[in-house]
Amino acid sequence: MAIVELKNVAKQYGSSGNNAVDNFNLVTRDGEFVVLVGPSGCGKSTTMRMIAGLERNTEGEILIGGRDVSQVPPKERDIAMVFQSYALYPHMSVAENMAFSLKLKKRPAEEIKAKVDEAAKTLGIEHLLERKPRELSGGQRQRVALGRAIVRSPQVFLMDEPLSNLDAKLRVDMRAEIVKLHKRLKVTTFYVTHDQVEAMTMGERIVVMKDGEIQQIDTPINLYEYPANRFVAGFIGNPSMNFLRGTLADGVVGGEGYRLTLDAAHQAAVASHHGDIWVGIRPEHLRLADGDEPNNGLEGTVEVVETLGAVTMVQLAVGETTITAQLPGHRQIAIGDSLSLACDSDKLHLFDVDSDRAIGREPAAASSTAAEA
Ligand SMILES: Nc1ncnc2c1ncn2[C@@H]1O[C@H](COP(=O)(O)OP(=O)(O)O)[C@@H](O)[C@H]1O
Ligand SMILES: [Mg+2]
Repeated sequence: MAIVELKNVAKQYGSSGNNAVDNFNLVTRDGEFVVLVGPSGCGKSTTMRMIAGLERNTEGEILIGGRDVSQVPPKERDIAMVFQSYALYPHMSVAENMAFSLKLKKRPAEEIKAKVDEAAKTLGIEHLLERKPRELSGGQRQRVALGRAIVRSPQVFLMDEPLSNLDAKLRVDMRAEIVKLHKRLKVTTFYVTHDQVEAMTMGERIVVMKDGEIQQIDTPINLYEYPANRFVAGFIGNPSMNFLRGTLADGVVGGEGYRLTLDAAHQAAVASHHGDIWVGIRPEHLRLADGDEPNNGLEGTVEVVETLGAVTMVQLAVGETTITAQLPGHRQIAIGDSLSLACDSDKLHLFDVDSDRAIGREPAAASSTAAEA
């Protein structure tokens, strides 16, 4: 176990062009489970490879357990990696695959056997130890890859999209197992995914990245409730947040087809802003208006209705913008219907149109984009 610290870390491949990773700052807690999430190409793997020592950072410092590892080769960093491709040795049995790194370290045979047996038990693969990788399912191979990492008792686990090759159901099972495994082993873990649901369900803290830059570092619930900018707001949450252009004046935001009055606290928080604005509303925060608040809500024409049983998803045109509303239960709504929707002021998100930064709402215990010890 160890604290991992990245200070102003940047990576440039070759001599020209943009940084693949830029100005990355993060201090983990000892034993923390940190998820890096963002679209393909945003620099997640590059960050992991720099922590592992497979790539040199072009700028900044990386410390593991307080030690600057810039000059330390990968095999001396006391890190174990698990990748999307399991890269098991095909000619070796499961037990031999798991034992391999300990054999290289010339550990005594009894110790190796004890560690392999213990890891196999933890992962529920004791009965597979004599099989070859080709005799295993995808989920079983992924367990072996995890087992190979566990037997090394590293200070840090690096997992780069380890579940991407598994089917959806198995992925959900395995992500719960990795969380349980982490609770038991308490090893500081960096986990990469492009899937925001995986990030939200697994991460103690989540680093949201885009174009090589950190957008926000926070707990899952703070990312959901207090996204720092429009990118994070749209990336975290499923279905995605709706965005409407509008103007803010005298405590009211409005645009074509909608008008929403901010409550006193929200008005105070955005007091220094007026004029053009983005309004963000999550689909699950829209509800059918009960008619007692005329001139406060959204008016739309239904374009698509999806009946999912537990919820009804409705796409409607509000002015020029199509938004999604997630209404609880089964609703009798038809294409072409006019709907009046409402949203509570404390569920509205406002964003600056130039910077895309969130305006006005702050988490109680602010941790926002700053790295915390
Ligand atoms: N070995 C490399 N040489 C040059 N460019 C690279 C190399 N590896 C990654 N990149 C570039 O760096 C950026 C970040 O890549 P990567 O870290 O793999 O993203 P992610 O894992 O988030 O999908 C991308 O633009 C990618 O094309
Ligand atoms: Mg990657």
